[in-house]
Amino acid sequence: MDAERKKEEGHMPTVLITGANSGIGLEFARQYAARGWAVIAANRSPFKPADYAQLGYDATEIRYDAQDDKKAAELALRLKGRPIDVVILNAGISEETEAAPEEVTAESFERSMMVNTYAPLHLAALLEDNLKMGEAKLLVGVSSLAADTGRYDVPRQFAYRASKAALNQMWRNLAVEWKDWGCTCITLRPGRVRTRMTGYAGDLSVEQAVSGMIGVLDRATPEDNGAFIWHGTELA
Ligand SMILES: NC(=O)c1ccc[n+]([C@@H]2O[C@H](COP(=O)([O-])OP(=O)(O)OC[C@H]3O[C@@H](n4cnc5c(N)ncnc54)[C@H](OP(=O)(O)O)[C@@H]3O)[C@@H](O)[C@H]2O)c1
Repeated sequence: MDAERKKEEGHMPTVLITGANSGIGLEFARQYAARGWAVIAANRSPFKPADYAQLGYDATEIRYDAQDDKKAAELALRLKGRPIDVVILNAGISEETEAAPEEVTAESFERSMMVNTYAPLHLAALLEDNLKMGEAKLLVGVSSLAADTGRYDVPRQFAYRASKAALNQMWRNLAVEWKDWGCTCITLRPGRVRTRMTGYAGDLSVEQAVSGMIGVLDRATPEDNGAFIWHGTELA
């Protein structure tokens, strides 16, 4: 989407990102802002002042906690009537990654399902009207290789894998549910990225991972509705 042309026409392309204060979410915010998009950051922890300032005057930060439906409702109310082109549900957690089957706790499993699975669906539903008003109508779930039903050779991570696989399945449901009004629902695998979640280990920098994912989103067409994509390749 050509941001300058859109601004001249009176519609600034807009992206909403959850968990934009850290890692992949912060880099999405930076790269979209650098392209002239308005960024709405739905953050639990606030931006560092320097990070927020770097996003420019068209960035807005709104408090959001994936474990608090009231916060989600307040966010949706604040955005009522505002077109949003791209919604990126990125906030996520990875807990008890080393737990053996018998060590997985109900509490942590529930929290993973709440943050990684239920919350993105819930927020997507609250933002349906905003997406309908936007031009791109792109709903993005940040998934993981852990959701791939084909190849997967990482041990353990039970709750994480279950929650991300369920996220993908829900996106497929939404792809059917919202096809009528032209929504394209996509889940993305970022790759193994050096962020807080991975203890800053991995083959990709946030810049590399996010520019790859934005490339996928730029090229997305309605044929991609329901797809789970890694660097342009559809995964199982
Ligand atoms: N890094 C990788 O290699 C990799 C690979 C595959 C998928 N992913 C996915 O990429 C996404 C971003 O992760 P990251 O690597 O950038 O890790 P990160 O730096 O730890 O960022 C996680 C983000 O999620 C937010 N978050 C967690 N719980 C939340 C809650 N209850 N409410 C609102 N926000 C919450 C965090 O906010 P706080 O700062 O407040 O905790 C933070 O902004 C996640 O969905 C993750 O599963 C990452």
